[in-house]
Amino acid sequence: MNVLVIGGGGREHAIVHGLSRSLRVTRVFCAPGNAGTAELAENVAIDVGDHAALVALAKERKIDLTIVGPEAPLCAGIVDRFQAEGLRIFGPTAAAARIEGDKAYAKKLMKHAHVPTAEARIFNRFADAKAYVATRDTGVVVKAAGLAAGKGVVVCPDPADAILALERMMVQEEFGGAGATVVVEEVLKGQELSVHAFIDDRTIYVLESAQDHKAIGEGDTGPNTGGMGAYSPAPIATPEVYAAVERDVLVPIVDALRSDGAPYRGVLYVGLMLTAGGPKVLEFNCRFGDPETQVLLTRLDTDLLDVLDAVVDGRLDQIDLRWKPKAAVCVVVASKGYPGRYESGKVIEGLQEAAGMPDVFVFHSGTKRVEHLTVTNGGRVVAVTALGDDIADAQQRAYRAVEQIRFENAYYRRDIADKALRSSVRAEA
Ligand code: AMP
Ligand code: GLY
Repeated sequence: MNVLVIGGGGREHAIVHGLSRSLRVTRVFCAPGNAGTAELAENVAIDVGDHAALVALAKERKIDLTIVGPEAPLCAGIVDRFQAEGLRIFGPTAAAARIEGDKAYAKKLMKHAHVPTAEARIFNRFADAKAYVATRDTGVVVKAAGLAAGKGVVVCPDPADAILALERMMVQEEFGGAGATVVVEEVLKGQELSVHAFIDDRTIYVLESAQDHKAIGEGDTGPNTGGMGAYSPAPIATPEVYAAVERDVLVPIVDALRSDGAPYRGVLYVGLMLTAGGPKVLEFNCRFGDPETQVLLTRLDTDLLDVLDAVVDGRLDQIDLRWKPKAAVCVVVASKGYPGRYESGKVIEGLQEAAGMPDVFVFHSGTKRVEHLTVTNGGRVVAVTALGDDIADAQQRAYRAVEQIRFENAYYRRDIADKALRSSVRAEA
């Protein structure tokens, strides 16, 4: 089979890597890809937003299955477009992807389906939102309802900050139309957990747990990023937590989407806060997480193509997901300045040395080839992932590999997965 992966980050490199190991895969294409995917796939320089060119590519190269990495093309209806052309594609339709693309819709659906989540109010007018926040004496979270590349959520312990955030979104239109509607919700306390599930409308298959590190700084300080590292499994994801997420979140939301005329097919990512009152939903994403995919897919033992095919064909119930009895840790090496302004074009050294270490996978996030050199080409540059016998072993291997990688102004957190070690110590105590 010929397969096409849409996207160009670490998540897509991990998907390309998984597919390239499948016995049934003949050729892998990646659009637009990066310097890492170029080693396993044929990169094609098409923007993820150019649906017409992607359809043409899929026809010309006789692609049997297309896998969409990022949310923007999903929310813009790439799956509907491919299906209308008779092309097989992995991911939800635009109607189902609205669960990520429109946080106000997601909130209403959760409320309707009694899915546990933060109490929230939805506003379309700045004056109303401001008046509401002014009555609050506790902090709130302000969220732009539309897609804002992970930057549209502001946690405001002080209500005065919330008014500033509202002004930036609704008056200054910092995120364009994405901030025209806002969700204002209560601040939840607890540890965060990412749960991914494959869904083929009828069957829900929950993947192993993973935990992300969203903040740029050590000890979870500073602004949020796309994710600075991840580990799997997460010790806080106990069987009780998993049972509650499946029963109280996944089953009712999948039913609610179906009743709403938007049956879900693809991978659904649930961002949760494990509060004293049980798991509560922070957000839904209509795609794989980045960097959660890097740790999940390196642990997956089942042929990735078999799984994705089964989802697309609605036979997920016939698939058995097997996992390596290993832990995985991923450390993202970023350009200094990210998630704000940063410089690109820095030569990266040590990639081969790192990738040659046992059980280490160097997934490229923002890189490109310039003649014989690999240079930085994004905020997140590489996602160094290692398997180990347990989290501590995987963490050591990942950091040893990270030390091999050098470029000007490289930045990474030195505490990725420390949290997992702390919770396992607590669990044993
Ligand atoms: P989201 O994109 O909605 O997941 O928000 C991004 C990040 O903001 C989450 O990963 C949390 O760290 C934080 N966050 C979102 N909603 C809340 C909330 N209600 N309470 C506390 N933190 C939140
Ligand atoms: N790691 C967070 C995300 O993919 O949205």
